[in-house]
Amino acid sequence: MVTITYVEHDGTRCSVDAAVGLSVMDTALAFKVRGMEGDCGGFCACGTCHVYVEEGWFERLPPMSELERDMVSLAHDPRPNSRLSCQITAAAELDGLVLHVPAKQF
Ligand code: FES
Repeated sequence: MVTITYVEHDGTRCSVDAAVGLSVMDTALAFKVRGMEGDCGGFCACGTCHVYVEEGWFERLPPMSELERDMVSLAHDPRPNSRLSCQITAAAELDGLVLHVPAKQF
């Protein structure tokens, strides 16, 4: 297990124990993090799992695929630290990761 913290749009922080190997989108849904949708089930096809990565963590994540980059550009209010949480897998090196959930998904 690794600890992932989701910061909901109103500032509520949800720190959860994530199973290694599970996407941080699936983890958020399992813990009912508000603002996370994941409509396509994690196939990088909807952009409704958009998150902003806390400063200091973005560079530590695996690089984005071309497909993820395209989908992020279609998300609501994309920023330089935007990622799709279905494309991030919980792993030991991500213990302590902090993700901010946007005000809305599309
Ligand atoms: Fe659809 Fe991530 S769940 S793009």
